[in-house]
Order: sequence, then C-alpha cells, then structure tokens
Amino acid sequence: MCGIVGYIGSKKTKEILLDGLGELEYRGYDSAGIAVLQNNNFSVYKAVGKLVNLQEKAHDFEPKGFAVGIGHTRWATHGKPTELNAHPHLGESSYVVHNGIIENYAQLKRELQNEGVNFLSQTDTEVIVWLFEKELRGSASAFEAFSKTISQLHGAFAVLLVTKSEDETIFFAKQGSPMILGRDEEGEKHFASSDTPLIGKCSEVIYLEDGDFGFVKPNEIMLLDKGGNKKIPHFSKLSTNKLSAQKNGYRFFMEKEIYEQSDVITDTLLGRLSDSEIIFEELDPTLFDGINEIKLCACGTSYHSALTASYLIERYAKTRVSVEIASEFRYKEPLLCKDTLFVAISQSGETADTLETLKMAKVAGLKTLVICNVDNSSMVRLADASILTRAGIEKGVASTKAFATQVAVFWMLSLYIAKLKNSLTCKQIEDQIALLREIPRAVEIPNGLHEKITRLSKRYLHGHGFFFIGRDVFFPLALEGALKLKEISYLHAEGYPSGEMKHGPIALADPELFTIALLPQHILYEKSKSNVEELSARDSTICAISPIEFDKADDYIQTSSAHHYMIEFFEMMVVLQLLSLEIAVRLGNDVDMPRNLAKSVTVE
Ligand code: M6R
Repeated sequence: MCGIVGYIGSKKTKEILLDGLGELEYRGYDSAGIAVLQNNNFSVYKAVGKLVNLQEKAHDFEPKGFAVGIGHTRWATHGKPTELNAHPHLGESSYVVHNGIIENYAQLKRELQNEGVNFLSQTDTEVIVWLFEKELRGSASAFEAFSKTISQLHGAFAVLLVTKSEDETIFFAKQGSPMILGRDEEGEKHFASSDTPLIGKCSEVIYLEDGDFGFVKPNEIMLLDKGGNKKIPHFSKLSTNKLSAQKNGYRFFMEKEIYEQSDVITDTLLGRLSDSEIIFEELDPTLFDGINEIKLCACGTSYHSALTASYLIERYAKTRVSVEIASEFRYKEPLLCKDTLFVAISQSGETADTLETLKMAKVAGLKTLVICNVDNSSMVRLADASILTRAGIEKGVASTKAFATQVAVFWMLSLYIAKLKNSLTCKQIEDQIALLREIPRAVEIPNGLHEKITRLSKRYLHGHGFFFIGRDVFFPLALEGALKLKEISYLHAEGYPSGEMKHGPIALADPELFTIALLPQHILYEKSKSNVEELSARDSTICAISPIEFDKADDYIQTSSAHHYMIEFFEMMVVLQLLSLEIAVRLGNDVDMPRNLAKSVTVE
C-alpha cells in the first residue's frame, strides 16, 4: 500500500525523506519518489522498483539548510508502476503526494482536460495538483486554493502538497486514509502515513482525523476540521518501539491484518461501485465475449475464495464455473476449450503451481484473467487482464485480509458479468451493490467479540480434531476456517459441507470432536441446523456461530442479524480468524510464522 512522508525544516531533508520511505517499505510498493523545494526551486527524483533505485538516482543531491520535502511509495491502483505514474505529481509549479483513491477523478480529469490541461500520468492523483493550480488562479491565497481543491474530491485520501507560490509551507488533508503530523525536539514538523517513519525523529504526534486539513510553516500549524473550523493541535507522546509500531499496537501481524480488513476492503471497493453497476476500469468487457465457462484455479486460501466465487458467479451471472486446485490441474491433462475464461487467483501472484496453470491456459489459447494482490507480479504480467485486490502487503503467513478482499472482488465480478449477460435485473444489481457497501462494516469487530472468543478458546486446546461445517458459500468458508486453525495451531481440522457429515465423518463424533458450525440465518438455516443436531445427538462438542441462539450447542458465538447471507459470510469469517488466532496464541505458537510454512510458495 502507498506510503507518505513529509518534512519542513533545516536538517538533512533528503535523508529524512528517504529514511522515512524506508520505514514504510514493509507495506509493499512498486515505485517511489521525492520532491524537495528549496529557494523556490524543486528537485524531484522518482524510480520504479526498490527504494535503492531512488537512492541511487538522488545520490548526488545534497540540499543544505531550510527545505520543504514530500515523498511517497506507490502501490499501483490506477495505472501501471512506471516513473510517470510514481508520485510526487507535478502541476505547473506544485507537487502532490496522495494515498487512497479519488472516486470522482475521471469526471474531474475530463473537466480539466476540456480546459486544456495535459495529463502526464494515468493516476487519479494528478487531478489533485491540476485542480489546485486551477483554483490558485482565482484565489487570494494558496491555502484558499487548497481548501477549494479538497472540497471537490470524493473518496479516500491523505494528501500533502507543496507549491512555489508559498515555498515555506506544506498543505495537508486527510479523509479516510491515515496521516500523522509529528513534531521533533526542535519544533520542526514531519508527516507520515503511519508512525514508523516518525519514531526516533519526533517526540510527539497528532493522529489527524477524517476531514482534517490545513498547513504547516516553520513557525505555524493551521489545523481545521471538515467544517472549516479551527482546531487546537493536541500532540500526544509517540512510542519508541518500531516493531510494535509496524504492528500498530497489535501482538501479531495476523491480528493487525484481521483488524484492518474493514479499511482494506474499503480500498478494494473504492471507485468500483456506482449505484447501478460495477466498474472495473482494468477490464475490457469483450473479455467475456464467447465465454461459456469460467475456470478458477488456485492454491490454499485462494482456492477457498475461488470455491466461494463458484457459488456467486453461477448464482448471479448464470455462467458455468469449475474450480481447480492448481497442483492437481497441472498434471491431470485437462481439456481446455477456447470458450473458457481461465482465472488464476493468488495473493502473491508468484505461487509456482498456479503460475504454471496460467501458462498452460495461455498455451492452449484461452483468455486469461488474474485476481491478485501484487501488481507487477509474474501472474499479473502474464495474464490478459488482472484485477488487483488492494489488500496491501500481507505479512502474516496465514492469509486473512487477502481472502476477504478476494471474495469481495469475486462478488463484484459476479455482478459485473451478470450485467453483461443480463442475468440479473437492474434493481437486483442495485440491491447487491448496496450490500457490497456494507462489507467494511460487517468485518469490523464489535465490542466484546474478541474478548469472548479469547475466553472461549481455552476449551479447544485438546481433543482429537475439529470439523468446521457449513453449507453453500459457508462450506468454502468452513474449509478456510479449518485451514486457518491447522496452520497456526497445528491441531487437526477439516472443513466439510454440513450435509456430507452423515456420509462418513459423523462416525468420528464424540465429546472430544469439536464441531465449529456455521449457521447463517439467510441461507439454508433449517437444513444446516438439522445437520448440526445430528452431530449434537452423537455428543460432538459444538460451537455454533449464528445470529440465532442454538440450544443444542455447547458454545455459542452470536453474529448480528444481517439481512443477507454474504454479509453473514464476512462476519463469520472474522469470527473464525479470531478463533484460530486465540487458540494458537494459547498454545504458544508463532502465529505470524508458523512452522513448515512460507508466505509465498514459489517451488512446486
Ligand atoms: O499467494 P497465493 O494466494 O497464490 O498463495 C496460495 C497459498 O499458498 C496461500 O493461500 C496459503 O494457503 C495461505 N497463506 C494460508 O493461509
């Protein structure tokens, strides 16, 4: 995910900016850049790839004395990772860096182009600086122009802007993307999109709130709220521990990644939902011309999201779907027909087995699509088209937010195809889009839930195994729940379709067999319930996850009475993630780096 740094003062500006970007490297990026304004002159450096490329480019640049600087690491969302698309972006005499997505950028860009602006990049960010230049011509001050600019932006953003028209100032705004203003011992001001670049440099910080904007000068901080009312800047002490700052105060990266799902799904959805249709700018709708089947292929967690997708795509887009485990598909001598769209799903875009199946599909002449979290990865480069999940870097080996964002993309994709195929009415698509907007709230962790799961986890540390069971999309969710548990707790766990238990596995039922039962209200509730009753009658220990209290359960985790099964899906997903986490923590395991596993499996 993108990162921002800023600095205004008389220390070593270049080092401060580059060090700060280095501290943000862990978030993942594909290009980086800095702009330094000194004596009304800009020095700007940008580079694709690792930060070392930027450092080399800026090697001979040594600004001395007072300067104003901004820097950025970019994780591509609009436009490829190129130098032209790297931030900072230039207008006439100003530069901007931006995190987030400007939802109305296309409209703003059209208007600016009609007025003669020549855009250099494919980014949404560039509209900010051009809008500012336009407003500057009709404003009494640069701050007035900046305020007018910000008021026209829709979406999520954290912005820093520097301009020759006021060359001792950094303008800032925060809406939906994090931004921190820090102050060092000498009173000099720093900015960063997370606290790690500020640790060791600043003693105190302000975590800006949504709607905050303003400017800093060497001896002034102007901070306003979204209504334009002046706020008194209240600084708080900054921690000095970098590792814990990277984890944002959470014990493990996995825990942090579970908690940030609401934010990353907001990113996944940004710019892709209108009231009446799904917008995938990265897709050419002709990709689906002549397609009668969609083949989804992946490994591990990504395979589970593909299985979930198979229900959604068949149900909404009325298109036949088959799902393949990549390591099996490679050697089964599959029959590949040209009316099949081949879709590879991968967080990393580098998994050897999945990559190989994509190559096979290409050789067979199939159209190919990749659902991936890493732009410029091998799969993204190879496929005809790609949709990025925008989960940000995932550090925990056990996938959490990668899965959540994949499912969100697939839900959107099913509606995108449904629109092309007229398999849903406009009203049905509108209703589903309204539901998609509810996912970020559904994955928020309500008060008391985590605590309850922590308490309950102590009862599930022994026994001879776990069955996670569910029906419909809750079956792949059960598979994913079981995978989460086994990979970090090292306990044996299996996912099963609830209705399949009586065909064999129920023979294992006894009090030492733990059943984690997914009982959503809005899909096949009665049927799922009777499957769980069969297990309860055979004395299996049951933990029911449901909005409806279930008296045959030994433990019960209540979810909200959401009004659609997919919203229930996302809520239950979080419950399963937390349950695995807390069982593994109690067992004393290294949650972020479980034994025998690697984050990216690039060998067969
Ligand atoms: O990067 P990928 O999505 O292709 O990785 C595939 C699997 O190795 C991965 O999903 C793995 O199962 C998860 N990290 C487990 O949590």
